[in-house]
Order: sequence, then C-alpha cells, then structure tokens
Amino acid sequence: VLDLPIELDRSIRNQGRQVHAALRAAIIDGLLAPGLTLPSSRSLGHQLGVRRNAIVAAYEHLASDGLVEARHGAGTFVAERLPPPSAPIKPRHIDVPAMQRVPFTLGYTHVDRGMLKKLATSARRRIGWAATDDLGYGDPRGSEYLRDQVARYLAANRGVRCDPACIMIVAGTQHAIRLCADALLSPDDRVWVEEPGYPVTHTTLRVAGLNLVPVRVDASGIDVEAGVSACATAKAVYVTPSHQFPTGVPMSMPRRIALIDWAIKSSAWIIEDDYDSEFRYAGPPLTALAGLGSDRVIYIGTFTKILFASLRLAYVVLPSGVVESTISARAALDRFPPRFMQDAVADLIADGTLTAHVRRVRSRYREARDAVVAELKSSAGESLIFAAPDQGLHLLLRLPRDHPKGMATRIRETACVECRLLSEMRLVQRGADGFILGFSGYEIGEIKSAARRLGLAARDHQRR
Ligand SMILES: Cc1ncc(COP(=O)(O)O)c(C=O)c1O
Repeated sequence: VLDLPIELDRSIRNQGRQVHAALRAAIIDGLLAPGLTLPSSRSLGHQLGVRRNAIVAAYEHLASDGLVEARHGAGTFVAERLPPPSAPIKPRHIDVPAMQRVPFTLGYTHVDRGMLKKLATSARRRIGWAATDDLGYGDPRGSEYLRDQVARYLAANRGVRCDPACIMIVAGTQHAIRLCADALLSPDDRVWVEEPGYPVTHTTLRVAGLNLVPVRVDASGIDVEAGVSACATAKAVYVTPSHQFPTGVPMSMPRRIALIDWAIKSSAWIIEDDYDSEFRYAGPPLTALAGLGSDRVIYIGTFTKILFASLRLAYVVLPSGVVESTISARAALDRFPPRFMQDAVADLIADGTLTAHVRRVRSRYREARDAVVAELKSSAGESLIFAAPDQGLHLLLRLPRDHPKGMATRIRETACVECRLLSEMRLVQRGADGFILGFSGYEIGEIKSAARRLGLAARDHQRR
C-alpha cells in the first residue's frame, strides 16, 4: 500500500492516539483488508506528517486491541480474523411516553427561583468541600445528616417519631415500594390496593411479582372489611391514608384502627404513602398512620411535591425489625443514593428554607385550587360533580352517573387539556368516570382558561 486511505482527527491531543483512532476505524470499517501489510512506521509517519514514534505507539496499541499483528522481521499486518464490519449507527426514534407541562398534568410544582438558588449554593458548597470519605461508597440508608433532618421534620410536621437509623433515603416512592417488596414480601404474595388507586404503584407491585387485590375505597378510606372478605391472608396493603389518591378522602380513625388490627393479626405490612400532606388548606395536617405507633407500618414520604419531581428524593421509615433486611435488599439494588443532593436538601431543612418554601407555595396552591373551582362552577353547571379538596395538589371531578361510554375522553379532547381519567385509576371498571386535575405548577391565568374549557366542554357534551 502506498498511501493509507485515512485521515487524522487533529482535535485529539496526542499524535499516537490520532493515528490509532484513524487506523482502528479503517480496519473495523473494512477499508483495510485482513492480512494487508501496513507501511513501515517511517513511511506512514512521512505520509501523515507525524513523528515515527507516534506510528510505533499506534501499531502497539492496535496490536493489543487484536486488530494488527507484528511479525518479527516481516512488518505489521492487519489481523486475519476481524470482527464483522459494524453497521453504521442510525439514530433511532424511540417513543418514550413523555409528560408535558400542560394543564392539568400531575407532577409539576411551582418553580421557586429563590429556593433553587439556595439549593444550588448548598450543592456547590458540599461538592467543593467534599472530604475523601464523601467520594467513596456510602451507607445504603443514605446520608446520616439527611436522615437526621427527616426524623426531626417528621416529628414536627407529621406526628411520626422515628430513629434516623431506621430511615432509608431512596429515589422516589416507587423505589421505596420496590425495596419493600424485595425485602419483605415474596413473589406471588397478595397485596391489597385501594380501588380506585395509584396506577404507578400497581405497576411496581406487579413487576415485583405480587398479586393485587383491589379493595374499594368509600368516604372513610379503604374498606377493611371488604379487604378481609376478598383476601384475609394478604401480606401487605398499600394505602394513601392522609389524602387518598385519587378520591381525596382521608382515612377515618376507626378505619385506621381496623387496618392496623388486621395487619397485626395477619402479620401483614401497611405501606403508607404520605405524598402530599404538607399541603392541607383546612387546618393542620392530619397525623400520619405511622404516627399511631404500630410496628406494622412502613411510612413513605417524598420531596416530589414539597420541592420538585426531578429531584428524585424520597424516604422510607422502616420498623426497626426489618431495617437490616431492607439494607441488604438495597445493597443488591443500587447500593446507596447519590451523596451530594441529599446533603444539600438536608441544609434546606436545617436552615428553615424548606418550611418557608412550603408555606409560600401552599398559599399559591390554595389560590390555584380556588381559581379552578370557581371557574368550573361557573362553566360546568351540573355536568361535573366535585368539591374543593382540603388537601393536596389535585382535584377530582366526576361525571354524573350513567353517562355514555367514552364521554370523559371526548370531553378531554374537546377541551384540549391533559389530565388523567378516573377510569385509568381503576382495576375494576365500575361507576362514573371523571377527571383528575393537577393544579400546582401552572400560572393562574393558564389553569383558569383550561378549567373554563373543560367545564364548557362537559356542559356541551351533557346537552347532546
Ligand atoms: C399517590 C402518589 N404517591 C407518590 C407520588 C410521588 O411519587 P415520587 O416520589 O416517585 O415522585 C405521587 C406523585 O404524583 C402520587 O400521586
């Protein structure tokens, strides 16, 4: 070969690497055939205008890759056995369902620049000051500092008294649920879930190999007697007792007691998802079920609603008897959570920033809720049944009974809004459909006009 058909990428700093990259690509793409004699280092150096040493280094590197062979006294050859030429990479479009920030999509919160700046300052400082120990592997439960702050926060705000040693920091509620399933349950176990309920958790439980037993929710929360009749031997129940998702009902005290009694008698776990209790508009937050002191309750809290979803930070409070098995399950999964964001969030709790932020956004969310409710009242007439929620960041609207099939979907399309339907939250299709409207994370004007469109569309479809 007189001249090799290669071009060097001069942006690579080292000449040897430039030659290696160009020859490697030419061999793998089939431009240089197996067995071909390569030029001497002197001659190729001359052709490419690089030092001879760079060619020698590149040939040695290619030999250790197995792409060329050096034969003593005979020169350097392209290897006889090469992997088949790789097909060029074609960018593919993969359809991943993406959330859009359009009223009334759930999962968006108010963007508070002041709070974000404090979080950024803290994260920067913590990374910049990191000690050697902070850069290695960590405790599967997460940062001791954040666990300590979470324990104080829960005692002050949720009536849950716990030992920071029994808290585990996780990457969101589903991560917590998966960990509980891995550590405390066995494939094929039965688990009660609220009906209607949170479909994301249903998927996580199913993927963990568990069998779901839908248990109806009434005005007092999950119907424990119905659960016992359906499957008294279930090994766990997943509940949202402070603000049932999606109906919004709080679980009454008699039901809480009945649920705990059943769990104690059956040695079953109560998985309490306390996702939005900080946003209570009528009086102080309700005490969590875990605050009643049973060692059958596993409590899950999240920073998704009080801060934002992309943070991916949540926590689980474990009964002390299962901390070790959950640590082992976690160590086999993702080992431990990323370090620095945890400590930055702990700083926000410790210096009062988080409490002040929650207070500020709570009044904003109350305003958003009131605006949506007022707009729906004036536009929907009798075509939607709803009440202003006392808590949380979503509102449930029901259609009147016996509405035609598919009407909720048609109304949603006419109104050009994004929202989940009540039927999508059901495992068993029964009763009227409805709409779940997330009202946090939007400008008031934006959600008012969306609420108006939805109300008018509902009224219009009702008349047809
Ligand atoms: C019932 C329920 N639980 C938990 C969450 C929060 O989930 P995560 O912590 O995974 O963001 C949400 C969010 O919308 C929810 O609706």
